[in-house]
Amino acid sequence: MKEYKFIAKTFSGLETELADELISLGAKDVKPLLRGVSFLGDIALMYKVNYQSRLSLRILMVLQSFPVKDERDLYQNVNKIEWERFLDPFGSLAVDAVSFHQKLKHTLFISQLAKDAVVDRIRNKEGRRPSVDLIAPDLRINLHLDQKEATVTLDSSGTPLFKRGYRIGTIEAPINEVLAAGLLALSKWNGEKALYDPMCGSGTFLIEAAMKATNTPAGKFRQEFAFMKWQDFDEKLWNRVKMEIYQAVVPLKAVIKGSDISRKSLSMTRRNLQESGFADQILLEARNFLKQEENFSGTVITNPPYNERMSLEDMDAFYRNIGSTLKHTCIDSDVWIITSNMEAVHAIGLRPAKKIKVFNGKLECRFLKYEIYSGSKKNVPTNNK
Ligand SMILES: C[S@@+](CC[C@H](N)C(=O)[O-])C[C@H]1O[C@@H](n2cnc3c(N)ncnc32)[C@H](O)[C@@H]1O
Repeated sequence: MKEYKFIAKTFSGLETELADELISLGAKDVKPLLRGVSFLGDIALMYKVNYQSRLSLRILMVLQSFPVKDERDLYQNVNKIEWERFLDPFGSLAVDAVSFHQKLKHTLFISQLAKDAVVDRIRNKEGRRPSVDLIAPDLRINLHLDQKEATVTLDSSGTPLFKRGYRIGTIEAPINEVLAAGLLALSKWNGEKALYDPMCGSGTFLIEAAMKATNTPAGKFRQEFAFMKWQDFDEKLWNRVKMEIYQAVVPLKAVIKGSDISRKSLSMTRRNLQESGFADQILLEARNFLKQEENFSGTVITNPPYNERMSLEDMDAFYRNIGSTLKHTCIDSDVWIITSNMEAVHAIGLRPAKKIKVFNGKLECRFLKYEIYSGSKKNVPTNNK
């Protein structure tokens, strides 16, 4: 099968984990970029990565890169691409452009020019031109111009891949599904140790963990990917790729549990667990973590609330209590906390064994690891403020 270059987009901080994931899925020549990873593979791999990657936000297929001096270069090179392979004359398209070019600066103009190059080609070949649909096109084309070169890519995913399709109920600040999966990858949780999210909100960590541990494809609950609308969509190949993926699904071995102080959050988690099919396999409890007495050993992963309306004193006390509860009830555990509140990090009062910078969209966060082991020096408290 012919090989293509692809770019998988992700959040800043997850590039290396995504590169490892892509290698495990069979990608070749894998290279981390900023907020993305480039790789080579065939169409079967493109189907597979869209369905299985937990850490990709979308997969772009690189169609062509060419030097560009002026409008003519742009029109002619875009017009040369075999668009009839992707787009039906009765179909619709949208072109999004980004430009750092000195001459071709106006992105609206550039995208219209590229659109003309596409529709002119199809009209010449098929006698009818596709239409423009900026909201829900059959084909979304991306054009990236740097100072000298243009790159044309196709979005093969459509709706971003974090929209897994299992989250039917949500709370105020749910963590993004791709970020949750990326943090699980960074934590190196292997799907065997017990895992606990004591502030589980709508249950994203719990569901992502269960899907990872069972090899359940990330796209299981999605109905659609953009490549399904391409003219050359190979349904047989798609079904074969999915069948192979399902042959690798295994039962859940690890204990996964979640709790939350809010009944509303718990009822959201319950609905989402039901939707994802893990309702009978994940333990859920209503509980104020700060009053927890029961012990837990394994991996704790959580994102505590960061309420800007809370006073600094209250916030300090809240995070100090989290630190002290962890120290007393999560002995023999690796604890991972994500927060965008740098003050809170100090208030926890435990010395982090690792601090990883990650971004939740534009929001800079820290993903902190605390090793809480009996007799270990690593859980020595730092000076609480
Ligand atoms: C930022 S949200 C977690 C979001 C979650 N990761 C998700 O994806 O939906 C924080 C959660 O902490 C819960 N929470 C706040 N204080 C708590 C406490 N003392 N004990 C347990 N849960 C608490 C809130 O009810 C909220 O659901």
